[in-house]
Amino acid sequence: MTFTPAKWPRRLRSQEWFGGTGRDQIYHRGWMKNQGFPHDMFDGRPVIGILNTWSELTPCNAHLRDLAERVKHGVFEAGGFPVEVPVLSAAESSFRPTAMMFRNLAALAVEETIRGQPMDGVVLLVGCDKTTPSLLMGAASTDLPAIVVTGGPMLNGYFRGERVGSGTHLWKFSEAVKAGEMSQEDFLEAEASMSRSPGSCNTMGTASTMASMAEALGMALSGNAAIPAVDSRRRVMAQMSGRRIVDMVKDDLKPSDVMTKHAFENAIRTNGAIGGSTNAVIHLLAIAGRVGVDLTLDDWDRCGREVATIVNLMPSGKYLMEEFFYAGGLPVVLKRLGEAGLLHKDALTVSGTSIWDEVKGAVNTNEDVIRPVSNPLTAEGGIAVLKGNLAPKGAVIKPSAASAHLLKHRGRAVVFEDIDDYKAKINDEALDIDETCVMVLKNCGPKGYPGMAEVGNMGLPPKVLRKGITDMVRISDARMSGTAYGTVILHTAPEAADGGPLAVVRDGDMIELDVAARSIRIDLSDEDLAARLKDWKPNIEKASSGYAWLHQTHTNGADTGADLDFLIGCRGAPVGKDSH
Ligand code: FES
Repeated sequence: MTFTPAKWPRRLRSQEWFGGTGRDQIYHRGWMKNQGFPHDMFDGRPVIGILNTWSELTPCNAHLRDLAERVKHGVFEAGGFPVEVPVLSAAESSFRPTAMMFRNLAALAVEETIRGQPMDGVVLLVGCDKTTPSLLMGAASTDLPAIVVTGGPMLNGYFRGERVGSGTHLWKFSEAVKAGEMSQEDFLEAEASMSRSPGSCNTMGTASTMASMAEALGMALSGNAAIPAVDSRRRVMAQMSGRRIVDMVKDDLKPSDVMTKHAFENAIRTNGAIGGSTNAVIHLLAIAGRVGVDLTLDDWDRCGREVATIVNLMPSGKYLMEEFFYAGGLPVVLKRLGEAGLLHKDALTVSGTSIWDEVKGAVNTNEDVIRPVSNPLTAEGGIAVLKGNLAPKGAVIKPSAASAHLLKHRGRAVVFEDIDDYKAKINDEALDIDETCVMVLKNCGPKGYPGMAEVGNMGLPPKVLRKGITDMVRISDARMSGTAYGTVILHTAPEAADGGPLAVVRDGDMIELDVAARSIRIDLSDEDLAARLKDWKPNIEKASSGYAWLHQTHTNGADTGADLDFLIGCRGAPVGKDSH
């Protein structure tokens, strides 16, 4: 922790718009006054952009306008000038073809929204899966002071007395309907019990994971991740963050001061401890790329190997975010990591102090929700990075969500050329498949889908489900929802649409998985594999214009974060030329 606060007072960038008596300053200032801002709001105090991903079509963030008001209270109290600014909000639950395709577009828009306008610091109001990384990426590329406030998770769902987890039970119930174990009427009744309050998914899915990643990176105030959306303390957190960002601007405490390599290593270990989503792999790699930190898939495997999953939350465990909050939330987990020697204790946070100072007093009030390290949910909780002739640049699996008996497996490939092929065949009783097979799905990666859909956890064929089998080895270049589970190998790189070996797998090939050895292979000689790859031709539909074209043309592979190649890096926030 080597941060030295800047001197205050000093002239801020917003004064390039608002400070002075010239024609241009009067133009910028005068038009703002149509909202009723008094003249002294433009006197050089920090202008704080509250970047809001509120949208009625992003249900997980639909309550963020209320939180924005609380942030404003805090900014005013600390002597700043808050301005609420809407930004692109990509909802996981409904954006097509996939919200992931728009993560980079949102990040690009956020970056330019910050750089092109009179802001000195930003509050990132996020929640649903992609909103958190996209705003962190955009803010990191400008490197203006930034703090994350998430909307918080939904309350627990209950169906007939049992906890119902967002996403996790959707997958479970839909399999049960397919297997004839649940009626369609019961499924509809369960639907109503899943989402019973504002907030993001209540499992340790991608939204809760990314909220935890923001806190572990030091980019949110301590305790932010787990507070339920409807708990009054969520509003307090928003207000305190509003106060804090003003002081961050005065101190010039920037994302690059906080998001160091040590901070990312803390986040990776935290992901292992919470049993976090595989999506965090892609998002952290992309955020690191924006802030100029050299983070690789190998860092994920290296740091994750030594971490046990101690948070007993769905999809890996039993409880939900509400109980995680009551048990003490992420500060308890970070404290446990620190006590185990797995935390860089001196990493700086947006609070201006070290992460250890923030969490060392945390108290665990439920040792079944946050387990002791001596009694973990899974001894090896990190994300495992697999390599081999089927994934020369890597693939990932979440062992804590997989079946122990499948972590070493050899099986016959049943190949689906794309998601439509899968949907057309999977319910066909004539499909030649049993539980020992390996389901292979192609063309669902960043370029192929396009946008890398969350379809890697393919549902099993009904004839297998009817035997009471609930898991099979599945491999693809897709992602999977953080709420999902199973022995599912994801993010295979290079992807099929880019001519990776996955593209040439055929029905009947033998696939070998060995998670302990970090290996994923197709049983083919180097010569045979090379011959198939030589004959391979791209077979995806390529957009000829629009954002889909930009995305397909410029996206990087999943192994480096699937950012657009021309957006990597920090470009700062120079004020540029005036337009008048
Ligand atoms: Fe928005 Fe899960 S769909 S957080």
